[in-house]
Amino acid sequence: MSRLVWACRREAVDRPPVWIMRQAGRFLPEYRATRAKAGSFLALCRTPELAAEVTLQPVTRFGFDAAIIFSDILLPLAPMGVEFAFPDEGGPRIESALSGPGEWARLEVPRDGRGTAFVAEAIALVRGKLPAEVALIGFCGAPWTLASYLIEGGTSRDHAAVRAAMLSHPDEFRRLLDVLADAMAAYLRQQVAAGAGVVQIFDSWAVALSAPSYGDFVVPALTRLLRQLDDLGVPRIVYVSGGHLVPVLAALPCEVVSLDWRTDLAAAAAVLPGKAVQGNLDPAALLAPPEAVRAATRAMLERVPASGYVANLGHGILPATPIASAQAFLDVVREPR
Ligand code: CP3
Repeated sequence: MSRLVWACRREAVDRPPVWIMRQAGRFLPEYRATRAKAGSFLALCRTPELAAEVTLQPVTRFGFDAAIIFSDILLPLAPMGVEFAFPDEGGPRIESALSGPGEWARLEVPRDGRGTAFVAEAIALVRGKLPAEVALIGFCGAPWTLASYLIEGGTSRDHAAVRAAMLSHPDEFRRLLDVLADAMAAYLRQQVAAGAGVVQIFDSWAVALSAPSYGDFVVPALTRLLRQLDDLGVPRIVYVSGGHLVPVLAALPCEVVSLDWRTDLAAAAAVLPGKAVQGNLDPAALLAPPEAVRAATRAMLERVPASGYVANLGHGILPATPIASAQAFLDVVREPR
């Protein structure tokens, strides 16, 4: 079994497992080369051989304890009837935002993995090439973060439209979150069937909500999603931005909570009994010189629990990150102590 899976189960490990969110991406020259060969980001995601190639690149270069399948949280929305684009600048764009209940009601839960078979194929290819001790992580977006993209039409600074929609149409909004939860549960099951041994759910825009709203609207939908994975026996990691939400997450049926960089790891672990924690170095720390990266990483490791810890950043690695800084982060995590 992999070091990552042991740590997720809070078993003893020789050192913390380590991987980096968005580890396959533009900070790597080999990624930029494969991306150019593919022609577009979507073509890269939808060509299993190329998606597998970029998934393996960071593991080959750095020897991470896990690979995360190369895809994007929006791709499983296509078979639900949503059209989107990834322009070169400014993040993803939903072609026709679903602003109200009439549009939400048209979303369908796809049957039999329709429309995402290319992800399963890429997972099978990667699993065939990875050493057994390296975990393969499947992932999806959390219902709230996906609803934000659908309603805002893209990455939003204040998430005002989705927050207003939630309070204007609470019953319909709960149904929207449930439909997204059911679709993402089926999508993660498809990824595990193809060979993913760990799953991560990204609630990147959780930080936009108050703790009571998150508990009232989002926790039930996340619970519904996670419960549909109970029988698989794979560790479930939930990334939630916003340290104010940590106490609300104690009740989630997941093994690991992934924390953002604003959150104190020790304080979070103390209110998440029975759960492992993952994170949470500030991605911007990796823009500092290697000596500063080493100091920041050592400071982070002072705050981690003795068991049940996965080293990572507090959000995705930034495209401007120097390779040497990513390497410095890894070196410190792997230092004997
Ligand atoms: O290595 C990995 O982590 C796997 C790849 C991965 C991508 N997106 C590739 C990607 C993962 C796990 C994601 C998840 C994702 N996508 C999230 C959740 C994680 C997070 O960062 O909060 C979110 C919110 C998205 C939506 C999204 N996709 C945004 C905001 C952007 C634009 C920002 C950016 O980095 O350009 C994307 C595009 C995207 N997804 C890229 C990559 C490598 C850049 C596209 C390119 O190569 O041109």
